[in-house]
Amino acid sequence: MNKLNINLDEKKEKINKNIYGHFAEHLGRCIYEGFWVGEDSEIPNQNGIRTDVVEALKAIDIPVLRWPGGCFADEYHWKDGVGPREERATIVNTHWGNVTENNHFGTHEFMELCDLLDAEPYISGNVGSGAIREMQEWVDYITHNGESPMSDWRKENGREEPWPLKYFGVGNENWGCGGNMRPEYYADQYRNYQTYVRSHGDNEIFKIACGANVDDYNWTEVLMKNAASQMDGLSLHYYTVPGDFWEGKGSATDFKEDEWFITLKKALKMDELIKKHGAIMDQYDPEKRIAMIVDEWGAWYDVEPGTNPGFLYQQNTLRDALIAGVTLNIFNQHADRVKMANIAQTNNVLQAMILTDEEDMILTPSYHVFEMYKVHQDADLLHFDLESENYKFEDQEIPALNASASVNEAGEVNITVCNLDPNKEIELDTNLFADKLNLSQVKARVLTADKLNAHNSFENPENLKPQELKAVELADNQLKAKLPAASVTLITLN
Ligand code: AHR
Repeated sequence: MNKLNINLDEKKEKINKNIYGHFAEHLGRCIYEGFWVGEDSEIPNQNGIRTDVVEALKAIDIPVLRWPGGCFADEYHWKDGVGPREERATIVNTHWGNVTENNHFGTHEFMELCDLLDAEPYISGNVGSGAIREMQEWVDYITHNGESPMSDWRKENGREEPWPLKYFGVGNENWGCGGNMRPEYYADQYRNYQTYVRSHGDNEIFKIACGANVDDYNWTEVLMKNAASQMDGLSLHYYTVPGDFWEGKGSATDFKEDEWFITLKKALKMDELIKKHGAIMDQYDPEKRIAMIVDEWGAWYDVEPGTNPGFLYQQNTLRDALIAGVTLNIFNQHADRVKMANIAQTNNVLQAMILTDEEDMILTPSYHVFEMYKVHQDADLLHFDLESENYKFEDQEIPALNASASVNEAGEVNITVCNLDPNKEIELDTNLFADKLNLSQVKARVLTADKLNAHNSFENPENLKPQELKAVELADNQLKAKLPAASVTLITLN
């Protein structure tokens, strides 16, 4: 019944490592406390950036980091965030709790963070409330190698060499918090702004246009029709919300099987969105030159009781691990069009990798999925056929299994498979085909728990982490695995 046929000779495209990207906004405690503690903090730090968080993120090979927003991006004025820290202007973060920020984390600090993480920076510029000149000067400040007002100012502020900067977003959610624009108007704005986002020397900027909200296919159509030739990437935002976004999204930890089911069903919608937006992109760009960049995704619940509603702090359970596992499998399967994705958000906000409480830090189940799945980064996607039984809940059903597979340069095959059914262990039979097959070893790790809302806490930080899965066997090119109920599994063959 549950069968996977993998043809090892049928390699598809490379899975761009940037699919495993992250997003850090000036929102709640993502940047301040999550990354930035300041040089005088007792929390161990390098030039103000906390060391424990950097080390943890390096361990999952974070490839790219998007900053400074989100909605914050279209209200951010970068010039306020450079120069001596004590002289920087403050900014009121109107979207997120109306808190006043001191701008101590700005361009230099972000670029240093990316250096420490060994991650590519992805900056979102301000279209909604910023000027074209401001955007142009930001790119010049960062990348201009020579004499210019902006590169001179950068040098005065302590950075001699320009920084390499590839990814630049021209606005964020300009259909909403980024200016409430119509697609026709934004397409023209995009064309105008991007003209002045210049590549200097050998620094080639990859320009990303603001894409659709969820299933607004008209937005994609209008952007592709009017601005395709001026963009390298088009974004897409989709959050998994079990309830209603405005009436009550649902609790991160206090839920039963009905919300487990509906949440995972909604997570699977990512596949449909990519297919449908992708089909529109194909009409204008059959060569698939333009990347689909899913630069915001993840679970969005009600905030943890007693926390600031504007800070979007939520716990992270086994359910989130499944959302991450399913969504990353979907991105892998669409590696021909999806070239980057950025889960929201890195620390303390929405579907976070890391939660901090002053000097303490814990890793979430979602973090562990990114750690397990990092083997897919830059590997070749393998074609397969998956036959799966359905997971039924009341009168609805969804496929119980969801998977992706890749082969890396060393010839190691990695299969990631999620069992969405919380009530049933599933035995999966896999046939491996290839002209020459010399895989003889198998090992597997699994993330699972008895309780659907199992999570890590500051009292019990290692409650949920990957364990060895013993129930796997490889003989005569047949792989058998028993996948626990409600689990994310990585099977490695070599
Ligand atoms: O990630 C939180 C917010 O969600 C972002 O600021 C915005 O772009 C989106 O609506």
